[in-house]
Amino acid sequence: MGLLVLNFGMAIKILLLFMVVNTVHGIGANWGTQASHPLPPPSVVKLLKDNGVQKVKLFDAESNVLNALRGSGIEVMVGIPNDMLYTLANSVDSAEKWVQRNVSIHVSSNSVDIRYVAVGNEPFLSTYNGTFLATTFPALKNIQAALIKAGLSNRVKVTVPLNADVYQSSTEQPSTGNFRPDINDLMVEITNFLSLNGAPFTVNIYPFISLYNDANFPLDYAFFDGYSSPINDNGRIYTNVFDANYDTLVWALQKNGFGNLSIIVGEIGWPTDGNLNANIRLAQRFNQGFMSHISGNRGTPMRPGPVDAYLFSLIDEDAKSIQPGNFERHWGIFYYDGTPKYNLSLGGNSGGLIAASNIKYLPRRWCVLSPSASPQDPQVVPSVSYACSRADCTNLGYGTSCANLDAGQNISYAFNSYYQEKNQLDSACKFPNLSVITTNDPSVGECRFKIMIQTTNSMNEGFSLEPVNMLLQMLMLLLPLLLIK
Ligand SMILES: *[C@@H]1O[C@H](CO)[C@@H](O)[C@H](O)[C@H]1NC(C)=O
Ligand SMILES: *[C@@H]1O[C@H](CO)[C@@H](O)[C@H](O)[C@H]1NC(C)=O
Ligand SMILES: *[C@@H]1O[C@H](CO)[C@@H](O)[C@H](O)[C@H]1NC(C)=O
Ligand SMILES: *[C@@H]1O[C@H](CO)[C@@H](O)[C@H](O)[C@H]1NC(C)=O
Ligand SMILES: *[C@@H]1O[C@H](CO)[C@@H](O)[C@H](O)[C@H]1NC(C)=O
Ligand SMILES: *[C@@H]1O[C@H](CO)[C@@H](O)[C@H](O)[C@H]1NC(C)=O
Repeated sequence: MGLLVLNFGMAIKILLLFMVVNTVHGIGANWGTQASHPLPPPSVVKLLKDNGVQKVKLFDAESNVLNALRGSGIEVMVGIPNDMLYTLANSVDSAEKWVQRNVSIHVSSNSVDIRYVAVGNEPFLSTYNGTFLATTFPALKNIQAALIKAGLSNRVKVTVPLNADVYQSSTEQPSTGNFRPDINDLMVEITNFLSLNGAPFTVNIYPFISLYNDANFPLDYAFFDGYSSPINDNGRIYTNVFDANYDTLVWALQKNGFGNLSIIVGEIGWPTDGNLNANIRLAQRFNQGFMSHISGNRGTPMRPGPVDAYLFSLIDEDAKSIQPGNFERHWGIFYYDGTPKYNLSLGGNSGGLIAASNIKYLPRRWCVLSPSASPQDPQVVPSVSYACSRADCTNLGYGTSCANLDAGQNISYAFNSYYQEKNQLDSACKFPNLSVITTNDPSVGECRFKIMIQTTNSMNEGFSLEPVNMLLQMLMLLLPLLLIK
């Protein structure tokens, strides 16, 4: 009996050892929280663990998120939002406080396994018009100095998640790659600093955006299952744009003397809605293709070996800016409620993704266009625009999951979206003579009319000015119409 227990214990230890060895380079995931009804952080941590995700990348350092990660064994990259860069660049004291409050406290009890601080998020994106060019590097230096002062610099490394257009190539061959000329000097300085501090270069790579920006981009080249016109770069063969993009970075690093710098793919993924090429089928093809591609540690032609990557993203975020496109709220491998969108094997032995457990929904009711109302009612346009400007209507439109709705269903979708966003407040389904609450699921085919999940906020909705607010705002929208008449 005793022997049996001992053996069982040993077996567990060996098993654990295997798991550790196997998952050191396991896949990571980005956990963003820009949602109207975010899943409770403890549910997300359980979701990560149930699905064997060993590493998580955050865009912030929210204490409820970090507290939920306590003791989870999950490696964490905490983030500093771009709007904090100015302060952190200009104040050593602020940087020290940031590290004290958002790293030291969580690490000191040895309970949150923080490994990286991401300073800024794609700060050199061209849409920022250079806003963060002057502050990113000084902020990086101040955070690094603060980590040293806190005695954490061996354990916690700094990095800057950059968009892939900080480098480019003059041909489609990766070997012609180098940093973008207008930021070359800055990139060399930052890279040198990372290298001196044993820190990684972090880049976000998006074949979906290549396709989105260029109608002539060859679809198959975005994926991992073969391409009829591979790119031959002096004998190195490229059949997917991920490898080519990654190796363009490897060449840029090598040409500037940093050929051995470690690389993290901070974001990689494919959205499932809001655009013709954003759908379940292509997202599954891309993400599963990527997982198979990096399994076996084959790496890329220039960098054989493991690829360190974080999927973008874990869960849909319905409150993200749609400035990049309507797809921006649909990057999750899970829907807003933690249900899997498609089968994806993340490298563990399970076949598919495991859903979040014990999720509590609001009651089964929806706000829809009243059967007695007409889609042509003059109040419809301002009502829909009111609803969609405050809630999420990115599932509507050409090429989306709800593209096949008729005009009336379209209006219902917008009304319901607003009603759910407002936690099913009665007053949020009072579009003038247009709307009605129903308990019959209005979903049509793959177009799902959501029911939101309960959050701490949704439980405490009491008195609200919403009806008054709504009426006033709609009057404003109607005013021009009335004046014309
Ligand atoms: C810690 O991070 C949070 C979330 O990003 C931020 O709001 C807060 O200001 C930070 N604390 C300090 C002391 O900088
Ligand atoms: C960048 O410049 C464009 C055009 O001048 C402007 O529309 C946009 O708002 C600017 N963006 C930022 C973040 O400053
Ligand atoms: C890169 O690493 C290899 C193996 O560790 C080493 O032999 C080589 O000298 C390094 N090269 C540079 C440029 O640091
Ligand atoms: C996953 O695959 C199984 C079996 O092939 C299928 O029954 C199930 O519906 C799939 N799940 C999703 C989310 O697509
Ligand atoms: C439904 O709404 C979307 C977005 O507002 C619009 O592009 C589409 O044309 C509408 N479809 C119908 C049938 O009204
Ligand atoms: C709603 O309909 C009633 C009866 O048809 C009408 O008297 C009222 O003015 C309408 N209200 C609005 C806000 O259009």
